[in-house]
Amino acid sequence: MSTTKPVIVYGASGYTGRLICEYLREYNLPFVAAGRDKARVQEAMDKIPGIETATYEVVEVAHAVGPLTELFTGASVVCNTVGPFAQYGHEVVEACIAAGTHYLDTTGEQDWLIACDEQYGQAMADLGLLLCPGLAQMYTTGEIAANICLETPGLDTLDIQVFWKGFPTIASTRTILVNAALSKAYYLEQNQYVEWPADAGLYDVTVPGQHQTELALPWGGTSHPVWFKRDPRVANVKVLGGVFNRALMQGVPQIVAAVVEQVKDLAVEEKYTVLAEQAAGVMNEMPPRENPRINTSLDSVYASGPLGRAHCVIYGNCNYKQTGLLQAYAAHSLLQQAPQRVGFASGCQAFGHSELLGTLRSFGLVMEPVLTVHG
Ligand SMILES: NC(=O)c1ccc[n+]([C@@H]2O[C@H](COP(=O)([O-])OP(=O)(O)OC[C@H]3O[C@@H](n4cnc5c(N)ncnc54)[C@H](OP(=O)(O)O)[C@@H]3O)[C@@H](O)[C@H]2O)c1
Repeated sequence: MSTTKPVIVYGASGYTGRLICEYLREYNLPFVAAGRDKARVQEAMDKIPGIETATYEVVEVAHAVGPLTELFTGASVVCNTVGPFAQYGHEVVEACIAAGTHYLDTTGEQDWLIACDEQYGQAMADLGLLLCPGLAQMYTTGEIAANICLETPGLDTLDIQVFWKGFPTIASTRTILVNAALSKAYYLEQNQYVEWPADAGLYDVTVPGQHQTELALPWGGTSHPVWFKRDPRVANVKVLGGVFNRALMQGVPQIVAAVVEQVKDLAVEEKYTVLAEQAAGVMNEMPPRENPRINTSLDSVYASGPLGRAHCVIYGNCNYKQTGLLQAYAAHSLLQQAPQRVGFASGCQAFGHSELLGTLRSFGLVMEPVLTVHG
């Protein structure tokens, strides 16, 4: 069945999919809430405050290129939240190419970004379509901070820190484990990917705005090295991230090492099965709705060059809401005008960092950035 609704939210029964639907309602955009289980999607929709004023339909669809293509045909934008994306994303991008729809997702997986760039970027560009994986709090908010620093010319090195407070969702937990166990993590040095050591371990880092240090990890490399690899202003990008919870962070390397050991001799499909079981053991229920007094975010970027320095910090709250809003705003924008780039592009490259910041600010999810410039 093709659709007359312009936006498809695939994975609408999930924590993030539901939030995208909430914000699509606030933008007055008709949408299809799609997922593998119609009853679960309907249950999620029924919990959205004010949903009775939204124009939407609930559709069950099998996770395969054919049925997804059929569903996407007639729509303009797909917001995909079915992760881990390195595992489940290919079918959705292929369906977007077949149906001629723009593609957005919420990934933070570096290997998926590289796969999108290398495997599908040209095909999407040839069709005049946007391929924008990773439009999400991690790491678009940090990308906005980096771009604010880069408004000062002559800076070529980005030292980025991403922190948040709260609980990961079921798919986020699974994604973190799959990403840590199955993929390499890269930083950027003189425009080349350089692999983080597999046992990079924990870094004790200073965090703007507090006296206590925190523990951080390369966190799979993050999206920034991929996005900035093609930015002529930038040559070096290193990112560390974590949650504001030292005890939890202390345990992460052991959890990951144990899982890596457990799956190392298995075939790929078996690895995914074991990783899903392990992740379910860590987190198997939907976390509570975010609370701005608890769920905070911090994105800090030191940008430097031979003769200049800038530092930008964005304090925010409710990561998952930030993600839902960014997706809904992008859909709203794509329905009115072409993106600033087609093919593979980051959120800031496609929509502009000022516009994305303005959107987050107007919904009360981030403070005004704190910027210091020297040089
Ligand atoms: N970078 C960021 O800042 C950021 C922010 C938010 C989310 N994310 C990422 O986005 C993804 C989704 O997160 P979430 O919070 O929405 O997780 P979630 O609440 O667990 O939802 C996952 C969604 O994916 C669906 N799904 C899972 N396996 C599927 C399969 N085999 N076929 C079809 N659908 C499947 C689920 O459907 P059922 O309900 O039927 O199980 C559900 O709709 C994760 O990878 C997460 O890491 C990243």
